[in-house]
This record gives sequence, structure tokens and C-alpha cells, in this order.
Amino acid sequence: TSGHLRHVESMAQLPSGAGRISHLNAVVLGESLASEEHDLVFPSPEFSSQALLSSPEHGFWSEIAKEFYWKKGWGDGPIVEQNLDVRKGTVKIEWFKGATTNICYNALDRIIGRGDGNKIALYWEGNEPGHDAKLTYNELLEKVCQLANYLKDIGVKKGDAVVIYLPMLMELPIAMLACARIGAVHSVEELGSGCFGLSSHLFASSPLSRLFLLVLCGVTRQRILDCRPKVIITCNAVRRGPKVIHLKDISDAALLECVNNGVSVGMRLENSSYFWVCLTYENQSAMKKEATKWVEGRDIWWQDVIPKYPTTCAVEWVDAEDSLFLLYTSGSTGKPKGVLHTTGGYMVYTATTFKYAFDYKPSDIYWCTADCGWITGHSYVTYDAGRCWDIVDKYKVTLFYTAPTLVRSLMREKTEYVTRASRKSLRVLGSVGEPINPSAWRWFFNVVGDSRCPISDTWWQTETDHPLPGAWPQKPGSATFPFFGVQPVIVDEKGNEIDGECSGYLCIKSSWPGAFRTLYGDHERYETTYFKPFPGYYFTGDGCSRDGDGYHWLTGRVDDVINVSGHRIGTAEVESALVSHPQCAEAAVGIYAFVTLIDGVPYSQELRQSLVLAVRNQVHRGVRGAGQDPLGAGLPKTRSGKIMRRILRKIASRQLDELGDISTLADPSVVDQLIALTDS
Ligand code: PRX
Repeated sequence: TSGHLRHVESMAQLPSGAGRISHLNAVVLGESLASEEHDLVFPSPEFSSQALLSSPEHGFWSEIAKEFYWKKGWGDGPIVEQNLDVRKGTVKIEWFKGATTNICYNALDRIIGRGDGNKIALYWEGNEPGHDAKLTYNELLEKVCQLANYLKDIGVKKGDAVVIYLPMLMELPIAMLACARIGAVHSVEELGSGCFGLSSHLFASSPLSRLFLLVLCGVTRQRILDCRPKVIITCNAVRRGPKVIHLKDISDAALLECVNNGVSVGMRLENSSYFWVCLTYENQSAMKKEATKWVEGRDIWWQDVIPKYPTTCAVEWVDAEDSLFLLYTSGSTGKPKGVLHTTGGYMVYTATTFKYAFDYKPSDIYWCTADCGWITGHSYVTYDAGRCWDIVDKYKVTLFYTAPTLVRSLMREKTEYVTRASRKSLRVLGSVGEPINPSAWRWFFNVVGDSRCPISDTWWQTETDHPLPGAWPQKPGSATFPFFGVQPVIVDEKGNEIDGECSGYLCIKSSWPGAFRTLYGDHERYETTYFKPFPGYYFTGDGCSRDGDGYHWLTGRVDDVINVSGHRIGTAEVESALVSHPQCAEAAVGIYAFVTLIDGVPYSQELRQSLVLAVRNQVHRGVRGAGQDPLGAGLPKTRSGKIMRRILRKIASRQLDELGDISTLADPSVVDQLIALTDS
């Protein structure tokens, strides 16, 4: 396989990637003579049918897929069925359908089977330096099996959803793998969305704290209602730097709200009147069992039950297209958007992109600073700017993967924090989440990597599951060229592909194994959001330009989604957080937030503060009020009451001569008032 990979790799290294092949004239040898020098000459069908690698889409992925364990293969038929063109019917992407496998088996049993059971699978580093742990593959598999057996025992079956609301404890990957082992669909709830602003003293027990708790569990509740899990797996609390975050309180409030909404999902255990099972890990370093609020009959301590279960558990063989997990992400409306990934394609694609984007070798020690549910580099900085590099030395980390936001925070600190650690083990650095600005890139490259480690700037999305790696000369700030088998194109407003040096909308042509298959419970929205804007293509939502050398430069989101420190935030989510505040009537969010208070409510600094807090708590702690005082103007609305965001955006970015047609506004004078008031 490696010989073929080298062949395809060298194809992928052409700046145009595979995407441009389609623009050229293709000729099949034997059918007609190659008349022009630049025509592509394809092998004959006879040759292809016997070749080890027949085409990037088919032979390539099936060759790679053979490195994994499949209980049953995919036969001789095509390995992919796809329609990405909404004009031709329902959008459908299926890879390796009919084949059966299990990703947990491939991640653990397969490694143990080849004799690596005593190798370290996971290193764990706690909040305080010195608080650490590790697990070998053998130990990890045993723990996964115990939890899998418990879940099976209480009635969780293939296809059932399990919500996991855990911080970065080893129990988080254990829980994910246990679900995968029995064919259950995990939905990892990101820690950032609901609870970041929580601290023990702020949310002690005042009525206000209870109110906030109810408000901020809204996101979690909506997602629970969307996927209707059988079980919630959480822990009582977690420490983040100096803060204690009470995760269980948030799960409790979310579950209570579900019940109050008359939703009886989940499942009932014997002798219990509750529908939900809330398996709770006692995270002793943050909070003792005794201090945890408890619902008898519904809540179960992880440590009380899981160790009693057997340490082996038969694997549930699932179809390659059976659901593996849901991951909720932000869209341009406030509705939960459950990105659904299936098993086979995701497994093959993730392992392969990882291997090539990071040049992974079995001897590497990989550290990704992201939360399993969210990129959370900040937390390492808040209390020790040197901790990262000390950890690199402690574990001899070779591959270090992080987000530009962490790089920027660390570069503000003294260089000694970096240079006091040797960092000799580092081989490859990775960046993800947002464009990395050239000065941060240079600091990362020169200071952290001592100018010897390449930076893999990996552009990808929750939906796409793939990076564009940097295995070629790099340009600081560019995500360079596509991964093999992926065909990014840049299109203009009308959806026409544009070649050469250009700028436009980033789309992807044809499917790839790691593409998400649907939005849970809403295939229509999947088509509308991703496939209708530019028919025939998957639309990423990102703007992109290509330079004369064919390098890709991501220019950020073009929809109503903003990227704050590598974290995607839907403006609609921020809006609904603002209007959930009891004294707020209406809100519109671009880069600024424009809010209208309920008639008669006086504006005050405290009120502004608490509005900002509502957003921070519900959406992301990175959100900060910029300090703008009351504007005293209304919002620019059409006569039918629709807020014209386009105008707000132009006002906020001071592009005042590009306001466009404002004649449809109910009250056009609002525009002048807003301009005058935002002038300062
Ligand atoms: O705008 C792009 C930006 O992050 C978005 C995806 O966000 P999310 O699904 O939360 O995933 C983050 C981690 C995979 C994209 O639409 N983005 C991500 N990586 C990069 C990036 N922008 C520029 N360069 C990147 N390397």
C-alpha cells in the first residue's frame, strides 16, 4: 500500500490537487488517441479492473481500508454511493455500505492483537502539576468493556443515543469507546457551551445562581431533547485552574427542564420512577461524593457499579454506514444541529488523515490540547504559561496539535516560559480552528519548534472530518493544499468554479469517506445548509482565496456564524441567549450585539454586565462585552419586522457607503441614528 500511497501523494502534491483533473479533457486509452499534449490519458477499464489501485476514489480508499479489521468485507461492488447534487434528488453519501466492522475493536483489540497491549494508550495530566495517570491498551480495553457491559445490562442497545457530558478525564474516551463497542451512538456535550463561566463562589446558592443555572442549561437541554438519549454520563464536578465547575448541576437542571416539558424519553430502570439514568463519575479532586446533589433512583455512581462488571465484552459488529456519533455544532439558526457521522468511512478517513497530516509513526507521542468536545487551550494559560512546554518535556511529546488562540495567548508571555523546556522531542506542530495569523505562525515555528518542526495547518470542520496537511513548502498562514481524495474548489456567487488566483466560496466536490451523512433528524436542513447554496457541491460556509502558487488561504465564515478563538458560534445562538434574559425583548448579533430592552426598563452598567454574562454562560466564555453604552436607537427592520443584518454588519464595519438599499426599512432614520451613536 505504501508504494501506491506514495504515488497518490505525489499526485496530491500538485498544487491543483485532484480537483483540477475534472477541468481537463480526459481520454480513455483504447477509445481514442490522445491528441493534445495536455489531455489526461486514463488506463483502460481492463487494466483498471486488475490494478491494485484503480482510481483515487475507489482503489485508493479500499486499499487503505484493508489495513483495518472488517468482520465482513464490502464485496466487489463500488465502495461509494453518492449524490451531492440536490437537483438530482436526495443528497446521499455512503461508503463501504454492507461491510461490517467496529471502531472500538479497531482502536483497541486490533492493536492488542498485534502485540502492543502493554504500550501506553493514554497519558492523563490533571489540573495540578504532578496529578497524572496512564493506561496501557490492555487496561483501557478492560475499562471500556466494563462500562460497555454495564450499558448493555441496563438495556442500552445498538442505535441508542448516550449523552456524555464529561471533562477531559480518562472516563471520557472510555465512555466513547464503550458506546462504540456496543453500537450505541454517543453525543459528547462540549464543556464550553454551557458551563465555562461557572465558578463555585459565583454560583453558590443564591436565587440568582439558580436562575442562571436554568438559563444556561438550555443548550444542553435542547440537545438532549434532540437526540433523546437513554443515559447521561457525567461527573459531579471538575477543576479548571482555580475554578470548580459543577457539571452535574447543569445536567440535573437540563434533565429537570426536559421533564417539565413533558418529555418522557430515556428509559426506566427496575424499581425506579425516573426515565433517565444519570451515571455520575465521582471526580474526587474537584468535589466529594457527600457534597453532590443526588436524585435517588435516577443517579448512579460510576465507581459503585462499573468495577463490578466483567473486563471482557463481545463486540457488536455494525454496518459501515451505521451511526457512530453525533456532535452538535453551531449553525446560522438557534436550532440544535447534530452532525451525524457513521462508522466505516469515518474510521478509515480519521486514521488516514491523522497519519499523514502529522506524519504519525508508532513511536510518536501525540498531544492535542483540545477538549474532546471543544478546543480549550485557554485553560492551560490561565494559571501557568510554561505548563504546556513542561508537559511536552515530561511525556516527550513529538506531535503537538493546538489552536491559534493558544499560540497567541502564549506568545504574549515571556519567551523563557518556552525556552526553559527543552522541547527536543517535538517533530511536528499542528494548528486548527481558525486561520493562524503569520506572526503567530512564525512564533510557533521559530520559538516553540526551534525552526525545525513543520506546522501542519489543518483546515477542517465538525462536518468534514479532514485536514489539509502541510507536507510541502509552507507559507505562514496558509492551509496549503488538499488531502488526497478531497477536491476543494472555489466558486463565485453564482456557483461557478473559478480557477487560478482567485477568491470566493470554499466548496468541496464529490464525497470523501469522512463526510458527515446528515443532520440528525433533519435531512432537509442538511441539504439546505450545505448542498443548496451551490448545487452540485458541499458548501463549507467559509470564504477562501487561492494565490498564484495554488496555496489556499481561508478568510473566515461567510454565513451568520462567527469564529471566536477557534470556536464556532452561531449568531442566532447568541441572540437566543440574550433574549432569554428576563429583561431583554430583542437582540441581533453580528460582531456587535444590538439589544432592545423591554419598554420602561432603565439601562445600567449592571444590566449590560448581566446580558454579557448570559451570553458567556450559554455560548462561550470568550465572549466579552466591548463596553458600548446604550445606543438609544431601534434596530433596522423591514416593514414585515425582519431585522436587516446586512445593514448592521456594514455599520459595525464602518462601510457606510455600502449600506445598499434601505428603502424597505420600516423606519430608515434608524440607520442615521445608529451611525451617529456608534461613531464614538
Ligand atoms: O471557518 C473554518 C474554521 O473553523 C470552522 C470549523 O469549525 P468547527 O467545526 O468548530 O471545527 C473546528 C476544528 C476542526 C471552519 O469552517 N477553521 C478550522 N480550521 C481552520 C479554520 N480556518 C482556517 N484555518 C484552519 N486551519
